[in-house]
Amino acid sequence: MRPKITVVGAGNVGASVAQYAVEKELGDVVLVDVIEGIPQGKALDLAQAGPVHGYDSKLVGSNGYDDTANSDIVVITAGLARKPGMTRDDLLFKNAEIVGGVVEQVVRRSPNSILILVTNPLDAMVQLAWKKSGFPAQRVIGMAGVLDSSRFRAFIAMELNVSVENVHAFVLGGHGDTMVPLPRYSTVAGVPITELLSPERVKALCERTANGGGEIVALFKTGSAYYAPAASTVEMVEAILKDKKKILPCAAYLDGQYGVRGLYVGVPVKLGAKGVEQIVEITLQPDEQAAFQKSVGAVRELVDKLKL
Ligand SMILES: NC(=O)c1ccc[n+]([C@@H]2O[C@H](COP(=O)([O-])OP(=O)(O)OC[C@H]3O[C@@H](n4cnc5c(N)ncnc54)[C@H](O)[C@@H]3O)[C@@H](O)[C@H]2O)c1
Repeated sequence: MRPKITVVGAGNVGASVAQYAVEKELGDVVLVDVIEGIPQGKALDLAQAGPVHGYDSKLVGSNGYDDTANSDIVVITAGLARKPGMTRDDLLFKNAEIVGGVVEQVVRRSPNSILILVTNPLDAMVQLAWKKSGFPAQRVIGMAGVLDSSRFRAFIAMELNVSVENVHAFVLGGHGDTMVPLPRYSTVAGVPITELLSPERVKALCERTANGGGEIVALFKTGSAYYAPAASTVEMVEAILKDKKKILPCAAYLDGQYGVRGLYVGVPVKLGAKGVEQIVEITLQPDEQAAFQKSVGAVRELVDKLKL
């Protein structure tokens, strides 16, 4: 039996998650959306690409949740996306209502699933989903750090004209303007970028990373990024389904680690079949710790607004 992956929200990110997941033949996919015809049409369209790509994954589209029963993983992308002039935080109350309703539907039918949250504002949505689901924190995870560090990696590779495969990068903290790119832990073939680039260039790349989503919103004018967000989500799905024990930055529930208690924040975790199998604690210098604490403060403010 193939694993079952449900993707709620068949918009830009959700449809691309479905596409990348079946192209990697990670499992069968159920796409759910409130718009009639869209999840059904996209599922059928993707099924028709199967013969060309050579995947046998089954694809189902639906406006309800019965087909999602017994999913192994549920990816939640349902909700509004940013438009120019909006911050991720502007989406808070509307998306909280949507995500709350979705979580209620999916956990009833897939009580043993792992939830991956994508909807923004990410850190608050994952905290909400954890509370609503009643799941252990290990099985409710937020996607942001993989995307933020992938953006940082892309910018470093462009700057140094090297393969993206040689570049590793770390971004911690919340998924917002206060995110914390960590140049010291970002390397090209093992060499920290602080040894390869001037402090000014490092600073410029960090700033471009923190504004990475905004740069694309400004170009699109009608929505936000989706290829890299979807690819990042699928990297997490793959790590879990293949029990890879892969270290990836994700929004995970901190219970004392990094001096934070009772809050979802972006940190490196080990992802495997059980979800978050370990929170990886790295040593931060005082300035990095201060930036991380500032980011934690921004996440806590949003979570407080939702009275979670
Ligand atoms: N975490 C991240 O790094 C990251 C990256 C990119 C986008 N996002 C967020 O992901 C979300 C989706 O972005 P997108 O570009 O795919 O937007 P989109 O507008 O293309 O798609 C969202 C879909 O959700 C559907 N939807 C709305 N309410 C629903 C409900 N109650 N049940 C099921 N489906 C519902 C809509 O009909 C729409 O098709 C946004 O909140 C965006 O900000 C997060």
